Amino acid sequence: MLNFIEKVKSKAREFKRTIVLPESKDDRVIKAAGEIIGQQLAKIILLGNEREIAERAKNLNVDLNGVTIIDPLKDNNRDRYANHLYELRKNKGMTLEKAYELINDPLYYATLMVKAEDADGLVAGSLSPTPNVLRPALQIIKTKPEFSVVSGAFIMVIPNPQFGEQGIMLFADCAVNPDPNPQQLAEIAIASAMTAQKLLGITPYVGLLSFSTKGSAEHELVEKVREAARIANRLRPDLKIEGELQVDAAIVPAVGAQKAPGSEVAGRANVLIFPDLQSGNIGYKLAQRMSGGEAIGPILQGMAKPVNDLSRGCNVDEIVNLVAITAVQSYYGI
Ligand code: ACO
Repeated sequence: MLNFIEKVKSKAREFKRTIVLPESKDDRVIKAAGEIIGQQLAKIILLGNEREIAERAKNLNVDLNGVTIIDPLKDNNRDRYANHLYELRKNKGMTLEKAYELINDPLYYATLMVKAEDADGLVAGSLSPTPNVLRPALQIIKTKPEFSVVSGAFIMVIPNPQFGEQGIMLFADCAVNPDPNPQQLAEIAIASAMTAQKLLGITPYVGLLSFSTKGSAEHELVEKVREAARIANRLRPDLKIEGELQVDAAIVPAVGAQKAPGSEVAGRANVLIFPDLQSGNIGYKLAQRMSGGEAIGPILQGMAKPVNDLSRGCNVDEIVNLVAITAVQSYYGI
């Protein structure tokens, strides 16, 4: 874990990206901003009232020298962002008046900054529930041209090195799409392979999970996963993506060899794709709690520019780490 985060941080240091943190009312965010600048992981923009932020930083004994503070209520870019929002959403019923109202919300303001390329990425969620962070990003930044869905992956650090790449695995979608269709599931598999390749630096072996292995059961739920595997293989024949696999066949070499002989992925999968959000969310929490491992994320993938969501229970280190991950995602375009 330490190793993985240290690698990400050293890349972030090199890339010098600008990340906007809209939730400056949270002391953890102020402390994280000071820490990120101190470690030179990224350039930071904090949104909020300059005097209030400076006062709180002083009380917390945090040095914000080098951090840019922008007050969305007074900033010169208000007109530009409101107009941009209006133009992007007018066919969805947006009015200019409503756009001005929405940009008073720091989450919308930060999202528009990223859209306008005034920042490279955004990290929020320590004070806001997931849908409030995701919705503006989905409406304004939208997906990359090659994807129709955004999904949420977890980097799993499992203490047993026999799984994945020395215990490092990627699980998706564990955070966003309640019931993806086959096309969406295929895209989630492809986006996850890219995240594993670029962020984790590993060769992805992607298993599309089910309760059946290669025809051992017949059901419409199994057929959905099989169809997703066919679509993924058609879209990206260069990637090793296979399904349907039961999870033991995906990650245990002996079971993989028995249930899916000849498979390139079975027994060695390091990227696990769950068929829906219930299994994904349950799966990552079960693996984390029962193995005593760690789950880092969700890392949002498929978005045109990186936006990441913190848990409201996060600590300062988790904010610092997610900013470093976001900076690396920005550099690699994942
Ligand atoms: N990918 C890309 N775009 C999307 C996606 C997606 N997965 N979902 C919605 N959108 C787009 C829509 O196309 C729409 O765009 P448009 O307005 O330009 O047409 C816009 O986002 C809003 O779509 P809605 O259908 O109105 O979606 P809503 O705003 O209700 O919700 C959300 C979207 C927030 C992602 C919802 O699907 C959700 O709540 N998902 C579950 C999140 C969650 O609670 N996760 C579990 C907790 S996280 C954890 O445990 C780690």
